[in-house]
Amino acid sequence: MTANRQRTLVLIKPDGVKRRLIGEVIARIERKGYSVVALKMLDADRALLARHYGEHEGKHFYEPLLEFMSSGPIVALIAEGERVIEGFRTMAGVTDPTVADPGSIRGDLARDQGTKVVQNLVHGSDSEESAIREIAIFFPELA
Ligand code: RTP
Ligand code: MG
Repeated sequence: MTANRQRTLVLIKPDGVKRRLIGEVIARIERKGYSVVALKMLDADRALLARHYGEHEGKHFYEPLLEFMSSGPIVALIAEGERVIEGFRTMAGVTDPTVADPGSIRGDLARDQGTKVVQNLVHGSDSEESAIREIAIFFPELA
């Protein structure tokens, strides 16, 4: 491992799976030059999502967020590469897809659907600490 080699947790959210964008998201990750080193599809239950989004508990969008994230299957994957945590966040674009930069996943492929919580196709860990915590939640078998 080189000094900046990292792993990040990426989720393709229910909207991404429903819209058949799994391949598009994975292709972008691979074209950028990151490696997919683990991959699974799952139905996330409330307990798992409550662990994952614990930092947002009590916020106005928390319940709609958990409802949305459990509304259909998701894809969880681990991407690896130098500075991949920051790199994937840049590829995803900002949280609100209406203003996410064109060229980003959210900017190119998502928009406000008028739903209670914004649906923005993907999740990416936001720090090394989050990546370690989130990978342990979705891939406990790798711990
Ligand atoms: P994510 O964790 O899902 O990758 O998204 P993110 O880092 O860009 O955004 P974060 O602040 O972690 O929020 C998690 C999800 O909650 C919804 N949200 N709504 N209405 C709002 O102000 C608001 N803020 C966050 C979004 O669905 C976001 O992806
Ligand atoms: Mg986040």
